[in-house]
Amino acid sequence: MISAWLKSAVFYEIYPNSFMDSNGDGYGDFKGITSKLDYIKSLGCNAIWLNPHYDSPFKDGGYDVRDYFKVSPRFGSEEDFDEFIGTAHSKGLKVILDLVPGHTSEEHPDFIKSASNIPNEMYDRYIWTNDPWACPQGFKNNSGRFDRNGSSIVNFFSTQPALNYGFNRIDEPAWQMSYKSEAALKTREWLKSVIRYWLDRGADGFRVDMADSLVKNDGSQSEKPATSEIWREIRTMLDNEYPDAVLVSEWSNPQAIRAGFHADFMLDHRGNPYSLLMRMEDESGKNISYFDADGSGDCSKFANDFGNWYNAIKNDGYIALISCNHDTPRLAPKYSQEQLKVIYATLFTLPGVPFIYYGDEIGMTYMKGMPSVECGFQRTGSRTPMQWSDEKNAGFSTADKTFLPATIDKQINVAAQTKDKKSFLNFMKSFLEFRKSRKEFTSTDFEFVHAKGAEPLVYKRGALTVVVNPLKVKQTVAVDISPNSNVIFAVGKEAKAAKGGVTVPPISLTVFG
Ligand code: GLC
Ligand code: CA
Repeated sequence: MISAWLKSAVFYEIYPNSFMDSNGDGYGDFKGITSKLDYIKSLGCNAIWLNPHYDSPFKDGGYDVRDYFKVSPRFGSEEDFDEFIGTAHSKGLKVILDLVPGHTSEEHPDFIKSASNIPNEMYDRYIWTNDPWACPQGFKNNSGRFDRNGSSIVNFFSTQPALNYGFNRIDEPAWQMSYKSEAALKTREWLKSVIRYWLDRGADGFRVDMADSLVKNDGSQSEKPATSEIWREIRTMLDNEYPDAVLVSEWSNPQAIRAGFHADFMLDHRGNPYSLLMRMEDESGKNISYFDADGSGDCSKFANDFGNWYNAIKNDGYIALISCNHDTPRLAPKYSQEQLKVIYATLFTLPGVPFIYYGDEIGMTYMKGMPSVECGFQRTGSRTPMQWSDEKNAGFSTADKTFLPATIDKQINVAAQTKDKKSFLNFMKSFLEFRKSRKEFTSTDFEFVHAKGAEPLVYKRGALTVVVNPLKVKQTVAVDISPNSNVIFAVGKEAKAAKGGVTVPPISLTVFG
């Protein structure tokens, strides 16, 4: 069963620290978000993905949860959270939360209990080796800081101990348990209780962090049978108890849909279709993706691999397509605003569920060389405060010191762009309105017509034909567009169809219908 509302969803990703500060303490918060819901709606979005909002010591930007049943006081009160969800719903906006199933914070009380040298009810709920001196091959661990005679296996940073969902292949029976062991099954039940708790509280689903990380020694990245078994069990639970709820995985593999996810992110993994289209670089950092305006890219592999990925999942789920996210460098200033218009219009006329990262709709730029805050490292430059105006802290906060410094820019802010008819923001609005007006873009009717080198990319969505030229020079492509077709949308100058070929202006996208 493919989720009904996901089909026409357009998401807006909010990193809560950075969106809007209502009380002047320098951090974004729920009340701030609630005050901007009309803005999100006015963009043409009808859903929100909220990065972690749970109680956390923020040693990995909130992906280190200390209490799964409590909101972070940094973002406001429990009531503020409920008000945010309630107001979003009253405006027709769905809200998915971030579920961090594989690891907790090292400050989670259950982990602290499990680190004791005296066995207790949490002893087997995290993965511990039986030797504080050795790190087993293929794992990351944290040792020498706990009383327990062993080391804690971690999933990401050393502050993020792995919960015990067990092992599929057991190499070291002294400490590795089966994924069907009692302790591993208890972890599964705990995860279900977290999911039920937030769905009961009004959430419409979850983005699932490191969805493939649950069971260890679990075959290849593309298969992971035991991890998939767990997610299918959870999907069955949702189908029975919360049929409208959706799960969107951070897995980036068609296997995720087979494992029961409703949608799966196609992330920036070097050489995958998303990377080949717009983010691929060579060793020297030179852009070699299709959207390089000098033509260093090649869209044939993109089209082949995207097509295979799409065909593998299209009857059972969606590919989630991102403008960017909190882990990825923003595309500006790598690309100009004119290029970005073509890039986003291409990405979001391909079959998939659009996710717009806050600020991308006004062309916010990646801030190079930002000192790391809360273990953002190079990701910090994509997490700077939303630019609402050109006033103090870009209108994000009245504080003297904010979570990250805001970039004040006369043009890259919501207030200036709302007034300017030709702004990036107004382009994004009109594009999303156009996308919404044509059901072809949410159908499964999709086919590449021409994908070769840096030549124009041509694809069909039902009766519509999209023609893209990434280059700074005009190109022609030998594709026949029906003489009855008209241009129904264009970014940059319109392409011209004649018998035997289409002439496509530099940096442009045209939709014929
Ligand atoms: C995911 C998140 C990232 C986080 C990591 C560990 O990749 O997107 O921000 O640091 O998982 O939870
Ligand atoms: Ca605040």
